[in-house]
Amino acid sequence: MPADLREQILRLEDTFAISTETLKKITKQFVSELYQGLTPEGGDIPMNPTWCMAFPTGDETGTFLALDMGGTNLRVCEIVLTEENGEFEIIQSKYRMPEELKSGTGEELWGYIADCLQQFIEYHHEGENLGKLPLGFTFSYPATQEYIDHGVLQRWTKGFDIEGVEGKDVVPPFEEALKERDVPIKVAALTNDTTGTLIASAYTDPDMRIGCIFGTGCNAAYMEHCGEIGKLAHMKLGKDTPMIINCEWGAFDNKHAVLPRTQYDVIIDKESPRPGQQSYEKMIAGLYLGELFRLVLLDIHTHEGVKIFEDQDVSKLRKPYTLDSSFLSAIEEDPFENLTETHELFQRTLSIDAKKPELELCRRLAELIGIRAARLTACGIAAICTKKGWSACHVGADGSVFNKYPNFKQRQARALREILDWDTAEDGKWKRKDPIEVLAAEDGSGVGAALVAALTLKRVQEGNLAGIKDEKALKEAAEEKRKETEEMKKA
Ligand code: BGC
Repeated sequence: MPADLREQILRLEDTFAISTETLKKITKQFVSELYQGLTPEGGDIPMNPTWCMAFPTGDETGTFLALDMGGTNLRVCEIVLTEENGEFEIIQSKYRMPEELKSGTGEELWGYIADCLQQFIEYHHEGENLGKLPLGFTFSYPATQEYIDHGVLQRWTKGFDIEGVEGKDVVPPFEEALKERDVPIKVAALTNDTTGTLIASAYTDPDMRIGCIFGTGCNAAYMEHCGEIGKLAHMKLGKDTPMIINCEWGAFDNKHAVLPRTQYDVIIDKESPRPGQQSYEKMIAGLYLGELFRLVLLDIHTHEGVKIFEDQDVSKLRKPYTLDSSFLSAIEEDPFENLTETHELFQRTLSIDAKKPELELCRRLAELIGIRAARLTACGIAAICTKKGWSACHVGADGSVFNKYPNFKQRQARALREILDWDTAEDGKWKRKDPIEVLAAEDGSGVGAALVAALTLKRVQEGNLAGIKDEKALKEAAEEKRKETEEMKKA
């Protein structure tokens, strides 16, 4: 390994490493921001009440639609919650989310989504008289919800930049687009992917307390008591009344008090459509990992006295967001000592013919970025558990980084042990079961969203209209569900 590259590796290790002490310091600040977000004054972390006020019991029944507006795909599901406790049937279709839509207009967005729903209904229910199908809409962006069937977009995240949507309720223009196309759907609940993840996981696991997404974006939701939610005090909901809080923790430390941001994190933020927002998310979410890697390599390439990719055409590497997190996963997964697969990957994706020491630097860099991301996520989990006084529970997690990034789970679990001072054995290895375990979640944006819709109608049926906007329509939908269940039982 040439001395200049070795020196760079040491510098990077120093830049990206996060000590146990720093993790603890971040967690402490995190706890205080969670509290702050619940006050009427608020703070960086929005801590949005969701009006999802119960866990499923397993006896929810009926047919519901779920719509998941993700970054790359749009997924429509029809879910039948069956009589058997905790069971369901699902049919689903995926539609591509055109890239242009992400920087287009609101009208184009809602029109496109309504077209997809129309196609889905026509395909699966041609000629049927459906009444109005209740929909759980997974809208995974920060939204202020005064009601569950309503949500004012606080700001776009994950690189979305659609004009004319921020600051407005997203449900009316969406329902308008459905109406224009005669699509028989009623939004029963607008829900976040983290809320859906928590609900879907709690459906089958009574120890579930937190739902997390570690994917293109990063966030968590947990069940709070209304007595702890200062900003809802005026609604007199009863101090023990449960309410899921969508933390929107991506916004943690927007003030830059504790996160050890590097020069590369600063560039990512500055060049993003919403500078100053989502500080924590920009250090850990899948959307940004490849970009971090690219920025570091480009920086080293242009560094005087360091020879990397010399005499190579780096024009592809100069293009922002050319690499996604799967590029890093692939590097970390390369099983060959001489990094053959990484070499091929560089050639194929970037047209760079990298030398062995350069590849070694890249491998170390991918590891450092992946380790830092995983370790930072543990701070958020530890903070929620600390705030709630939970010393043992399950956390349901979903998202591409959690499911596909090599070693992410192990690195996250290890950081959690360090933060919460769980003992390790003398050989440094952990042998017992962790009291707080992060487990792969059930399908939150499909089944979870359907369950949120079901829970909402159940609540309306029981006469609990707190946080319900369109009372008339949801009462009708609830009545239809009641009849459907009755018929299901008879059959
Ligand atoms: C959004 C959250 C979402 C998370 C994971 C973030 O960018 O603001 O609402 O839960 O991504 O999808």
